[in-house]
Amino acid sequence: MKIALIGANGQLGSDLAKVLPARGHDLLPLTHADVEIADGESVAAMMQKHRPEIVLNMAAFHKVDVCEEEVEKTFAVNAYGVRNLALACRAHGATLVHMSTDYVFGGDRRRNVPYVETDMPAPINVYGVSKLAGEHLMRYLLDRYFIFRVSGLYGVAGSSGKGGNFVELMLRLAREGKDIRVVDDQRLTPTYTVDLAHQTAAVIETEQYGLYHATSQGDCTWYEFAAEIFRQSGLSPNLDRAKTGDFGEKATRPAYSVLENRALQEIGMDLMRPWQEALGAYLGEREQE
Ligand SMILES: NC(=O)c1ccc[n+]([C@@H]2O[C@H](COP(=O)([O-])OP(=O)(O)OC[C@H]3O[C@@H](n4cnc5c(N)ncnc54)[C@H](OP(=O)(O)O)[C@@H]3O)[C@@H](O)[C@H]2O)c1
Repeated sequence: MKIALIGANGQLGSDLAKVLPARGHDLLPLTHADVEIADGESVAAMMQKHRPEIVLNMAAFHKVDVCEEEVEKTFAVNAYGVRNLALACRAHGATLVHMSTDYVFGGDRRRNVPYVETDMPAPINVYGVSKLAGEHLMRYLLDRYFIFRVSGLYGVAGSSGKGGNFVELMLRLAREGKDIRVVDDQRLTPTYTVDLAHQTAAVIETEQYGLYHATSQGDCTWYEFAAEIFRQSGLSPNLDRAKTGDFGEKATRPAYSVLENRALQEIGMDLMRPWQEALGAYLGEREQE
């Protein structure tokens, strides 16, 4: 299939840029310099020029704390940007594939069982609200779409929007001999972008359109994730528990945003492995790089 990949040099985008051609697809990798999704004309011109069958959108404004203050920009990219893509896909009969987030949840403070796709979202920060708006805009405009809600991404390219990834930050702090404090009151599922790229590619090759949760299996707090990174890397820095708010973050974050890949299981396509195994694979990949 002819696939336009927007955000091809980002963290997840760069893994998709390897996985999709390897599966025989005709890939058009696009960077921010090639297309600005917040600009409807830029999106329309891209579609007119390349006429892809599938548009894969990795672009987002996702510095969660900055989003609290830059609300217009957040909505311009995460909501209107997605609308621009949905309108262009509708006009050209193309399928839109989009990444959303576990942060569409979090409003239920007593929650302790994983969220499934049919659970009612209740975001608690601007980023989450904007991503949910993007989902809704695309769902009402299109019949043929895939939305993947993903969580805590890490990949060798590092997130360009966030400046690196959590694993690399932990390893750097440990190497520098710093005392490390990590929040132990936010539970989620960190997810390796290579696994997610394979999962995404497999599903979009079907006609099983819709909304999917797609994270690794299991869950942990950020503190537990850090402890496992150090355990698997043979490092033993001073690691302490912190609480949400200890670092003066502007955005509220969900205490619990674990997703269950229920819709993937229902179509027999949940390819994701336990988060500890995925972390091991990532640490191996970065060694090779
Ligand atoms: N990272 C996470 O932990 C996480 C968690 C949950 C959901 N997600 C979602 O997963 C997706 C991918 O995340 P990621 O970490 O791979 O992101 P990323 O590394 O920041 O990559 C985003 C890519 O999109 C480009 N881009 C940004 N704004 C754009 C715009 N307005 N128009 C066109 N291109 C633009 C970026 O280019 P420039 O860098 O040159 O601007 C970059 O290539 C996003 O939708 C995000 O909301 C991520």
